[in-house]
Amino acid sequence: MSFPRDFLWGVSTSSYQIEGAAREDGKGLSMGDVFCQRPGNIRHGHTGDVACDHYHRYREDVALMKSLGIRANRFSVSWPRVLPAGVGPVNEKGLAFYDRLVDELLAAGVWPFLALYHWDLPWELQLRGGWQNREIADWFAEYTRVLVTRLSDRVTDWVTFVEPAAFLGGLTNGQHAPGLRLPRKEVLRALHHIHLAHGRAVQVIRQTAKRPVRVALSHVGKTVIPDTESAADIEAARHLTMFADETYNNAWLLDPIYRGEYPVADVPGLQDGDLKIIRQPLDFFALNFYHAEYGRAGANGPETVARPVPPGHYTAFNWEMRPEGLYWAIRFMHERYGLPVTVTENGMANLDWPALDGQVHDPQRIDFIHRHLLSVRRALQEGLPVEGYFVWSLLDNFEWAEGYEKRFGLVYVDYATQRRIPKDSAHWYARVIANQGTPL
Ligand code: FCB
Repeated sequence: MSFPRDFLWGVSTSSYQIEGAAREDGKGLSMGDVFCQRPGNIRHGHTGDVACDHYHRYREDVALMKSLGIRANRFSVSWPRVLPAGVGPVNEKGLAFYDRLVDELLAAGVWPFLALYHWDLPWELQLRGGWQNREIADWFAEYTRVLVTRLSDRVTDWVTFVEPAAFLGGLTNGQHAPGLRLPRKEVLRALHHIHLAHGRAVQVIRQTAKRPVRVALSHVGKTVIPDTESAADIEAARHLTMFADETYNNAWLLDPIYRGEYPVADVPGLQDGDLKIIRQPLDFFALNFYHAEYGRAGANGPETVARPVPPGHYTAFNWEMRPEGLYWAIRFMHERYGLPVTVTENGMANLDWPALDGQVHDPQRIDFIHRHLLSVRRALQEGLPVEGYFVWSLLDNFEWAEGYEKRFGLVYVDYATQRRIPKDSAHWYARVIANQGTPL
């Protein structure tokens, strides 16, 4: 079976992880810029100051996408590049960068998916409480309006947030910026503010856009695979997928957005009318997928199952490879929320290097993506609407607390020279795209 003709083969990237130019052209500090300065926060003391220098090399990077036949790029905007203080005066030079990037993508036949927030909070707003301050919903709406006003004559696909569950880690375990360890109640309050900001942004996008738009939020969360495909195990896995984690499970992260309700009553900071703002119609479910676990119907209800991972099925991040989980994640999210799904991130970390022949051979990544695409194909064969698949990531990049050590790119980046070398996986992905998925 080949994939649908209009299937969107994409790559995802993110501003802080690739742009560099951290203090150029009037950009304000982001909380990442500050976080990286503190010794001990990032492996090897790396920072995003230069990263892949995409800010200066975006033309080359878009040309790479074009040469690989990539049809879409979910990229994100650095909020402090556009609004150095988070609100107030616009930095025209920063905004102009995204203007040029969008033009370049469109000219190359690469459809832009613009993510408003991939963890790049203006430091000035962090000083005012960041996600803990309810006013952030207004700040985010203002920022959204600036981008939509400028870019919506060309950009039609908008992603409000990338992975609230992941960047909330910056408030729970200190691993990400801003590096806080807050009590559970305060984390849940911040999550409520993220939901509010999402709702406000969707309203602004729909009211302000110059063309018809499609809006989504890129979600990452728990996936539980049924131990057997018996009806009872499937039901148990579905339940665990939605409700298993205590602090903020998938239901907590998603039900307010798609159903206008929280799974519990005592939500810190919830006010009358909030849920109406949060529940805005969305056009597709953007799913990021990296790992999964197993579960089944036990004697006392749903329970997770410890299944050994076959030797070698770990990535350099120590994340176990469970490609079948992608099928279940697509299925469970579609069943509960009723939207078509686009996989907006999936990929693996490796310790790639150029071989003596000058090429970068990464057979594990090819196998990893291949297996995940088979899961997507299973979903399609069963009639589940899957509209696209985006590899994380185009380039090796600044991998947050892990610095530059582990590499996720289809394209190798030599950070000393900024030379790009498409890896074997890039050439393989190009063939998959050119053949509409048929070699799989
Ligand atoms: C995701 C993030 C992305 C990258 C990958 C490996 O959770 O969205 O920025 O770090 O993981």
